[in-house]
Amino acid sequence: MDLAQSLPIMTKLTLGEGSVVGGYRLGGMLGKGGMGFVFLAEQMSIGRQVALKVLHPNRLGSPQRVEQFLREARNAARLQHQNLVTIHEAGVDVDNGLAFYSMDYIHGRTLRTLLNQFGAMDEDRAVAIMRQACQGLAKAHAAGIVHRDIKPENILVDNSGRAMITDLGLACEQVPVTPGAGNRRLLSIVGTPGYAAPEQARVPESATCASDVFSLGCTLYCMVTGRDPFDGATVIDLIANVLTIEPDIPDTLSGSMADIIDACLHKDPAERPNNAAALDVLLADWHPGPSQDDSQSITRRRRRVPRRRR
Ligand SMILES: Nc1ncnc2c1ncn2[C@@H]1O[C@H](COP(=O)(O)OP(=O)(O)OP(=O)(O)O)[C@@H](O)[C@H]1O
Ligand SMILES: [Mg+2]
Repeated sequence: MDLAQSLPIMTKLTLGEGSVVGGYRLGGMLGKGGMGFVFLAEQMSIGRQVALKVLHPNRLGSPQRVEQFLREARNAARLQHQNLVTIHEAGVDVDNGLAFYSMDYIHGRTLRTLLNQFGAMDEDRAVAIMRQACQGLAKAHAAGIVHRDIKPENILVDNSGRAMITDLGLACEQVPVTPGAGNRRLLSIVGTPGYAAPEQARVPESATCASDVFSLGCTLYCMVTGRDPFDGATVIDLIANVLTIEPDIPDTLSGSMADIIDACLHKDPAERPNNAAALDVLLADWHPGPSQDDSQSITRRRRRVPRRRR
């Protein structure tokens, strides 16, 4: 049966411990995000413990979007890497129409939780975590998969300190394309405003590996400063700032770190390290202390766009 065609319109839904979705028995809820809910769950056929992400019923409105989601999940499930959260299965529950995917359950915390709890981290620790994230993402980039929603919430750090990227290639539109107004796109965001690259914010379909590098740069900025690189009172202001403003890079950061962040946050994707592997090479060269050669510094060369002062 074509599962996508069977998707009913859901209006009311109660999910909780003991509910069954797609052959998984739900345990406690691990968290929720923009796309749906994540539960600890048991894959009933083989008794395996997994994390199960159940998408909001209104997230994948059309059968085409469901097909796209299932295709992307299958692509992501082919990838195996110690720094990627393995996806096991994606599907649509035939009884209630809920789309879901199952993945490894990670004992640990998201990078966002760590930053909220402990604040900014030392540069050497940030580099160690970011290099692991880059190595996982490099595997995806080599397979032609763009993540599209890199942010501290989508990097899990397990209890042994291993960093893993999750939600690979599965970002959904946050605000659906609204028809009308002469068929112009009103607001359609794939990824997270404030972390999505300028070109991705303008045209979501144009996201490339270099767009992920921008989001990695935002994440690195947050790791070493303890705050998001861009802000704004509204989503529109936030996106406008991503398009036009260079975040202030504190003087307390090493020149080497400032240069790496600056390279990632270039507005022009062609000027960034073009994928995660290229960023990993830059990070391997990171060194503490002041920049070795200020005259060569990317930071010094790029003052064309005004910096926000805090
Ligand atoms: N594989 C996993 N193992 C353990 N916990 C997980 C796993 N995946 C997600 N979680 C938990 O579930 C929470 C919600 O994840 P989710 O991906 O839904 O939210 P998000 O990343 O904040 O938003 P988005 O919908 O944009 O991805 C996470 O913050 C994390 O605590
Ligand atoms: Mg997530």
